[in-house]
Amino acid sequence: ARLVVLVSGAGTNLQALLDACADPAYGAQVVAVGADRDGIEGLARAERAGIPTFVVKIKDYTSREHWDRALTDKVSVFEPDLVVLAGFMKLVGASYLPALGRRTVNTHPALSPSFPGMQGPQDALDYGVKVTGCTLFVVDDGVDTGAIVAQTAVPVDDDDTVETLHERIKVAERAMLVDTVGRMAREGWTVDGRRVRLGG
Ligand code: GRF
Repeated sequence: ARLVVLVSGAGTNLQALLDACADPAYGAQVVAVGADRDGIEGLARAERAGIPTFVVKIKDYTSREHWDRALTDKVSVFEPDLVVLAGFMKLVGASYLPALGRRTVNTHPALSPSFPGMQGPQDALDYGVKVTGCTLFVVDDGVDTGAIVAQTAVPVDDDDTVETLHERIKVAERAMLVDTVGRMAREGWTVDGRRVRLGG
């Protein structure tokens, strides 16, 4: 299966996918990596792997809609079977969703529906939950509200900082992402309302 991965930062989730794709039995290859900004380690990881990259910056477009359409076109040209938003810090919109939404998954470092948005680990820490985790979902027009494909629970320690907690979540998140994306790539998936089923 052809994967396009979108990143905005360190790209450790991307790296986990790149490492998994090195095994032909995994059944997927990353054909392109896109970002909303340049100068990030995520792009450097793709370049080191010899994978085509593209950057679509908001400030280069006269409106959010134009940015969204440009992103849709740049991703579509690679004919992805599955698009993975791995730490991608923008919401995809009105052009993107009809074209690619049903084959785009996003990973979020909290147990949806708890703690959506940019500060999931901090919000979990502030709330005082004893268990948080990570969620893989099929994107929709909300913020971290799409149909859930997989989740992993992660314990919160009493002496956690947001950094130690997010790092512990990211260990589980990378495993969840690699396992689930691999299954989707090999077996396919169907989305029926809020139900995502793996397997053709
Ligand atoms: C991940 O935890 C992702 O869920 C969140 O930001 C982090 C990105 O990490 N949105 P990386 O760029 O994949 O290292």
